[in-house]
Amino acid sequence: MKRKLKIGTLLVVCLLLGMLVAIYSISSYQLNKQYTAPLLPALSFSNDAAILSRGKHLATSIGNCTNCHGNDLGGKIYLDAGLLGMVAGPNLTRGKAGIGGKLTDADWIRAIRYGISHKGSSLLVMPAEMYAHLTAEDLTALIAYLKQLPPVDRQVPPSQLGLLGRTLLVLDKLPVLAAEKVKDIPLKKTIVRAPSREYGFYLATVSGCRSCHRANLTGGPMQAHGAPLAPNLTSMSRKGWNKQAFLRAMRTGILPSGKSMHPIMPWQQLGQMSRNRMLFDTLTQAIFMDHSISKQIMNSYRESICQINS
Ligand code: HEC
Ligand code: HEC
Repeated sequence: MKRKLKIGTLLVVCLLLGMLVAIYSISSYQLNKQYTAPLLPALSFSNDAAILSRGKHLATSIGNCTNCHGNDLGGKIYLDAGLLGMVAGPNLTRGKAGIGGKLTDADWIRAIRYGISHKGSSLLVMPAEMYAHLTAEDLTALIAYLKQLPPVDRQVPPSQLGLLGRTLLVLDKLPVLAAEKVKDIPLKKTIVRAPSREYGFYLATVSGCRSCHRANLTGGPMQAHGAPLAPNLTSMSRKGWNKQAFLRAMRTGILPSGKSMHPIMPWQQLGQMSRNRMLFDTLTQAIFMDHSISKQIMNSYRESICQINS
């Protein structure tokens, strides 16, 4: 009897070890898989003051790079979710332990537009599927701005998945591989930055509203543990929101009920868009308009559960 029990325990232990080995090797294969970006466009960069200022606005507000890479873009730990994993935005400056000095123009484009790291593997969590929609004009302004950032000497630990994260990745339940989510979106040269439905949707796309609140802004659950649903934004006018309440929520994080929004909603970055009244008006216009969304825009965007804070 005792012997049978021993053999039984041994079998269970072997099975568990086998499973662990399988999870680690399959997930490592997925994490290290090499990707090649389509032929990169030849882009030219300029350090013109107006261009750098647009680049700064993209990095700190519209694209909310600062949310994950730190206010000085010198890197920060974004999310430490124990067994799920730890996500840190690396130091993007040329300072000590920063990668800014190492990246070529092609590396910057591959990371931002295709979610591929300079090592060729997929970036974790980085929402490149949104940034793939940036126009050439905005992409180059953003990169030009990042390349001239003041150096910050800060070492952040590399992002990694824990056992639970790896298991979910293997089970295809954790869509955190940026390169897998990006579609090859045609690179538009430029977009007219004027209040228009087209520009509103551009903003709602590249700033991630359509990532968390879903492609058609009708809302849905978030991946991050304990995070509330991303609400439906298309029915806001029916729910009694007006533009003032909307602007207040975006700028201060305070909902009409007086409650503060969960910090997963990145109002601190996105709310700065309100400094530029025109940008904000187009966004509200897009959201408050009825939801017969342009087919073309819908088709160019792959609906997926929110990747950002997963
Ligand atoms: C939701 C969080 C998040 C946001 C927002 C974000 N990043 Fe990242 N980014 C990351 C993480 C995490 C990594 C490291 C991933 C890894 O090591 O697998 C990363 C890596 C990078 C890299 C490194 C590429 C390499 O070769 O190693 C670059 C460049 C980068 N991000 C640029 C940007 C820019 C520019 C923006 C804004 C337009 C931005 N990121 C917004 C999370 C984010
Ligand atoms: C990283 C995910 C994420 C992104 C990106 C994001 N949101 Fe949100 N948003 C949320 C979540 C989650 C909530 C719910 C917060 C709560 O209930 O505390 C929310 C709440 C809101 C609310 C309050 C709605 C209500 O009915 O209570 C508004 C308005 C809003 N978001 C607008 C936007 C806009 C506009 C953008 C793009 C410029 C945006 N959000 C981008 C996740 C996100």
